[in-house]
Amino acid sequence: MTPAAVLCGIGSCLPARRVGNDELAGVLDTSDEWIRSRTGIGGRHWADPDTATSDLAVGAGRRALASCAPEDRPGVDAVVVATTTPDRSCPATAPLVAARLGLGPVAAYDVAAVCTGFVYALASASGLIAAGIAERVLVIGADTFSSILDPADRTTSVIFGDGAGAVVLRAGHPDEPGALGAFDLGSDGDGYDLITVRGGGSEQHLSAAAPEPGRAYFTMDGKAVFRHAVERMSRSSRTVLDRAGWELSGLDWMVGHQANRRILDRLADDLGVPRERSVGNIAEVGNTSAASIPLALDDARGAGLLKPGDRVLLTAFGGGLTWGSATLTWPGPDRFVS
Ligand code: ACO
Repeated sequence: MTPAAVLCGIGSCLPARRVGNDELAGVLDTSDEWIRSRTGIGGRHWADPDTATSDLAVGAGRRALASCAPEDRPGVDAVVVATTTPDRSCPATAPLVAARLGLGPVAAYDVAAVCTGFVYALASASGLIAAGIAERVLVIGADTFSSILDPADRTTSVIFGDGAGAVVLRAGHPDEPGALGAFDLGSDGDGYDLITVRGGGSEQHLSAAAPEPGRAYFTMDGKAVFRHAVERMSRSSRTVLDRAGWELSGLDWMVGHQANRRILDRLADDLGVPRERSVGNIAEVGNTSAASIPLALDDARGAGLLKPGDRVLLTAFGGGLTWGSATLTWPGPDRFVS
């Protein structure tokens, strides 16, 4: 039997500083009413300048490891960090996170798929487990988008927040609660420019011949992206449910990437999933990119929404363009100690 990846630990970490809509309305031409009605966001957390993505990733990773039952705790043998805002462009952030968590000389690498990063990282970690390369993998989605936002751009500054979420996966049986089932991943590079940071890579060096100001900032064509997000997540969700042999009507929860409440509502309507079954925390944390799905999952667990054996659909969309979905049955009550 090919082992399945089974969720056995979860944790998250937010920077302390909460930035409410009114604070942004004090410095940008925007309002609490616009932000809430167009995005569903009431506030977000932004890291202080001396807090890096690895700090948030370590915080979430430590909590995820501590939440594992004692028999699941030892022997993480790989760390995968999904991020668009690594501490440095070279090397990856994951080796630093593994070292700071005291995990020893384990495999550690980053995955870059913007807001789809966590689902891509889950798929990669599941592959390590299925191939027998790893027994236990710590998967972290962590982003510090405040470090790449243009503070003068009201179309992006109001949307993104910082944070990290992490899960521990172990090798187990495909039929046991906690098992990740099917995956669907995709991309469309024709939409490469719709969500981007143009400067700082090999295409446009941040060197002596400095690029135009603003080229190091994140930009997004929100209107075009909105339509793609609904279409792609909807199609990917149907594909992954089909692969898992699950009916839409048998779904207990949908945890979509927290990009915009209106996108999540449209997605739920399109799939015929009752909106109250689409869990999320966008009102509290905004769009936290790769951290969004594990943060939402951890919040839903904290709120007692997820019951053992519940059928959960994860679906995400982001820059690249990229998208991805996965099915997960929620683990039994004895799995987590905190
Ligand atoms: N405050 C007030 N007005 C604003 C703001 C703001 N913060 N931002 C934009 N506006 C204005 C615009 O200038 C525009 O004014 P105009 O009509 O005079 O030109 C008007 O509001 C409407 O702008 P739209 O862009 O059409 O607003 P929309 O309703 O589409 O909302 C948003 C914008 C929130 C960005 C939405 O398009 C969205 O959520 N898009 C998808 C985001 C997403 O899914 N991203 C993918 C993942 S992110 C990742 O991968 C990193």
